[in-house]
Amino acid sequence: MSGAKHPEKAPYYITTPIYYVNDAPHIGHVYTTLSCDVLARFMRLDGRKVKFLTGTDEHGQKVERSARAAGMDPQAFTDKVSQTFRDLSAAWQFSNDDFIRTTEPRHVEASQALWYKLKEAGDIYLGSYAGWYAVRDEAFYGEDELTDGPNGKKIAPSGAEVDWVEEPSYFFRLSAWQDRLLAFYRDNPDFIAPDSRRNEVISFVKGGLRDLSISRTTFKWGIQVPDDPDHIMYVWLDALTNYITAVGYPDENAQEFRDFWPADLHMVGKDILRFHAIYWPAFLLAAGITPPKRVFAHGWWTKEGQKISKSVGNVIDPYDIVDHYGLDQVRYFLLREVPFGNDGDFSHRAMVSRMNNDLANDFGNLAQRVLSMIYKNCEGEIPAPGELMPSDEAMLAAADSLLPHVRSELSVQGFQRALDALWAVIGQANRYVDEQAPWVLRKTDPARMATVLYVLAEVVRQLALLTQPFMPNATERLLDQLAQPADARDFAALSQRLASGRAIDKPQGVFPRYVEPETQTETGDA
Ligand code: MSP
Repeated sequence: MSGAKHPEKAPYYITTPIYYVNDAPHIGHVYTTLSCDVLARFMRLDGRKVKFLTGTDEHGQKVERSARAAGMDPQAFTDKVSQTFRDLSAAWQFSNDDFIRTTEPRHVEASQALWYKLKEAGDIYLGSYAGWYAVRDEAFYGEDELTDGPNGKKIAPSGAEVDWVEEPSYFFRLSAWQDRLLAFYRDNPDFIAPDSRRNEVISFVKGGLRDLSISRTTFKWGIQVPDDPDHIMYVWLDALTNYITAVGYPDENAQEFRDFWPADLHMVGKDILRFHAIYWPAFLLAAGITPPKRVFAHGWWTKEGQKISKSVGNVIDPYDIVDHYGLDQVRYFLLREVPFGNDGDFSHRAMVSRMNNDLANDFGNLAQRVLSMIYKNCEGEIPAPGELMPSDEAMLAAADSLLPHVRSELSVQGFQRALDALWAVIGQANRYVDEQAPWVLRKTDPARMATVLYVLAEVVRQLALLTQPFMPNATERLLDQLAQPADARDFAALSQRLASGRAIDKPQGVFPRYVEPETQTETGDA
């Protein structure tokens, strides 16, 4: 939709973390990107110019080791694995506008430019690092953070093993940023969400910050430090920079940079909040660049109550679950099942319950009942309403209140509450059908039946429009079945009522029921 329709609306820039290419994509990756995809789709439909960025994090020791283990040169290895993340975007219908790879020239240039800025600002000095490092997390840890592991190794709070590292290193003067960071958090109360995470970050920073080692010399797979070829940049400094590379940095006058920076939202998992909420704003402030507006740390998924891990062998393959339950169904489940920010459990039972109850029964039956009654009893055309009764007005008012409600929930990443609000109206519409009993009106008062069915068709249209970001396929089919033209499918279409008189085709259910493989006796929805 053109920006001209909503000239007052600000552009929206949203990012996923860039994913390490050491491993195949799993549920954790799709969850982060899915949440961004829903927001990006919502904002576009709401008339905003959107940039939605994802990509791959390709440097560092962890990736280098994985390449070696695969018997491949790191660049060839990252080319191959990065492609699997692109393929995943297509399979999950992620609508990202750009896909960044940290091995691209534009990114090398941006990272080196940021390094210069930090150096010019006097925030970088040469020293030597002696301390603990976890390759799995690509993170440095203080002695006080570690515990003893079973095999005599020390363990980081994340569960990763750490190794002792001693090497020459450049440092970023993070210790000097403690007060300025605390002031920044105080002045920008929405910068870290949810609140519990914000409090954790603030108390961590209050506990004191050590200077951060930002270069390595013991391996080569990374971006060279400008003017010192013995050093490569610490992979997190390189990785975080991707968010500004993608909008044209170091050209801060680039149109994209001016439109989209500071980013509206960096979506991250709770495990990588420290990098985004402490290091990243410190780097940016030091370089004279405005930090992003917000960082949201989401929770982690377990499966059937168990931590997901390769050693347990319970990794959820993002292709398998889509094949098994359907893409829209899984997208809906992941964002409806838990309050966003909390951890969640993926269980077959819960998935099937959402699929059959919320989708097939509640939304699916509502749409199917309404469309079939119109198809059969209104000569296959959207009927014209007569005079509205208070019950009709109340039904329409409930639907009309959805856009501002959902918009406000999604502005704070309240996916579950947004869906709760949508399903409350679905519930109300199902009760309205039962109370109005249009199948009885067909014989007693056909004009009244037409009004009731018109009200219901309008409510279904609004629900289909508003649930598009979550379930792009089923809603597309619903809008097709309501004969909605392509230019009436964004949220501007909510400010007008459904047009009467359009012919509709014979409707078909869009939310199939889940049928257990051994008991395939039921069919279709409704
Ligand atoms: N490369 C860094 C990010 C750099 S951003 C400048 C990285 N990559 S990652 O591949 O490990 O990213 C994983 C993302 O998936 C993180 O946001 C993480 O929280 C998320 N998840 C990994 N496992 C997960 C679950 N079991 N559940 C939910 N999300 C989890 O970190």
